[in-house]
Amino acid sequence: MDFDLKTLDLAGAAAEKCDALVLLVGESFRPGKDPLSRLAADALKAGDLEPKAGKLLQAYRSAGIAAPRLILAGAGDGSAKKVHAAVHAAVAGLRASRARRLVICLPAGADDAVLRAVVAATAEASYVYIATKSKPEGRELQRVTIAVADADRYKAGFGVAKATASGIEFARELGNLPPNVATPARLGDEARKLAKAHGFRCEVLGPKEIGKIGMGSFLAVGQGSEQPSRFIVLQYQGAAAGEPPLVLVGKGITFDSGGISIKPSQEMDEMKFDMGGAASVLGTFRAIGELRPALNVVALIPACENMPDGKSFKPGDIVTSLSGQTIEILNTDAEGRLILCDALTYAQRFKPSAVIDVATLTGACLVALGSVRSGLFATDDGLAQALLDAGDAALDPCWRMPLDDEYADGLKSNFADVANVGGRAGGAVNAAKFLQRFAGNYPWAHLDIAGTAWKGGAAKGSTGRPVGLLVQFLLGQQRLAPSKTGRAAKPSRTKRG
Ligand code: BES
Ligand code: MN
Ligand code: ZN
Repeated sequence: MDFDLKTLDLAGAAAEKCDALVLLVGESFRPGKDPLSRLAADALKAGDLEPKAGKLLQAYRSAGIAAPRLILAGAGDGSAKKVHAAVHAAVAGLRASRARRLVICLPAGADDAVLRAVVAATAEASYVYIATKSKPEGRELQRVTIAVADADRYKAGFGVAKATASGIEFARELGNLPPNVATPARLGDEARKLAKAHGFRCEVLGPKEIGKIGMGSFLAVGQGSEQPSRFIVLQYQGAAAGEPPLVLVGKGITFDSGGISIKPSQEMDEMKFDMGGAASVLGTFRAIGELRPALNVVALIPACENMPDGKSFKPGDIVTSLSGQTIEILNTDAEGRLILCDALTYAQRFKPSAVIDVATLTGACLVALGSVRSGLFATDDGLAQALLDAGDAALDPCWRMPLDDEYADGLKSNFADVANVGGRAGGAVNAAKFLQRFAGNYPWAHLDIAGTAWKGGAAKGSTGRPVGLLVQFLLGQQRLAPSKTGRAAKPSRTKRG
């Protein structure tokens, strides 16, 4: 989809040739003398339009309005969150129509966060999956013009909004692909393609190399699959070569059957989304490839399939991780932590300024937080706060969870240094405590996106989360990154330690 930005007042928007025009009407809407304003003011007065977010009034061939379809959308207090809900409702309402060109008027005085919300909501509501349909239908919307008071004023924010939306879409599309298509090898190919398009360094390692490096834990998870495992390393250099990078680690289980500890068959298809962490890291790289922030960023993606087979790893097996720690496998369905732990150890070689792993790690996190907020675990308060703030700003929120040592008690093993599962209680925290053993001497955060990476039921599909959070976080790190002339001591810079 193409977005563009155009300087247009409401009179100009009313005259703009397009298939549908969306006017956001918030509580602070002040009508002018143009036909659009008058229509909205009349509708408000008559009680046919409520400024509450999500309320819509649709009109057809209204006098003085060039667009055949007009949608007045209540935008509440005009906050980014309310505007997102309004635009989402308006664009979703258009999906049945064949509208190809859409104009959305940004409310007067909107800031960059509101602009981002408009672009994100439009992209989110108009996305249609077609990759494996025999008749590609439904992707009618092609061009969306955002009408603003002053296009120059919004230019930078618009670039961020578009790049973020394209990163989210990329992650959604990869996540939605079936597991016989989105294999570990395909993830490697996608990484290579991104690298070529944006000039990243890229390495994609196979099982032999993974074994040679010593990632015995990661290797064990994929050994029951016909699909060979891949370890993907992507490097974006936007700052001086010596500048310590931020490392993003994404769980890339392209299908999680549970392995020998096999899952029940109900909804097992949804375990194709178990590579949502990997997809979001790749989507984030697509966005930073377009935005080119002044930062160094590394992506590490262990990708494999968790399958039952004669060659599978099994309960009771003991594997040796890259860190040297031995791990007793008590449940082969707790596989995410087994691939992430080796990537966390590998991350140490980049001497990173921080490492953030992203994983659909535990059903327990879904139980704890539902699908509203991702679970955030962090060893560093500054890093945690920066991620919480980025999530709120990007409307892709997370919630901090504890890391008390007592939560690791259940991970004791009689036969290895650690077991791969603790008790059922506090499952999301147990898993984080397991990972924490492998986080090196860098600030570390873990995002458990089990509840947020995809939706089930009738709206089944990948969400692309937490690409919005990650892009927002990275851009924030960059503005305040230390310059060559010395460390910027801005207060919101992530404080480590
Ligand atoms: N990929 C799953 C986590 C998951 C399950 C995410 C359901 C979203 C919905 C993960 O690999 C897993 O199976 N975790 C187990 C851990 C348990 C065996 C300790 C779980 O959550 O049940
Ligand atoms: Mn599992
Ligand atoms: Zn899994």
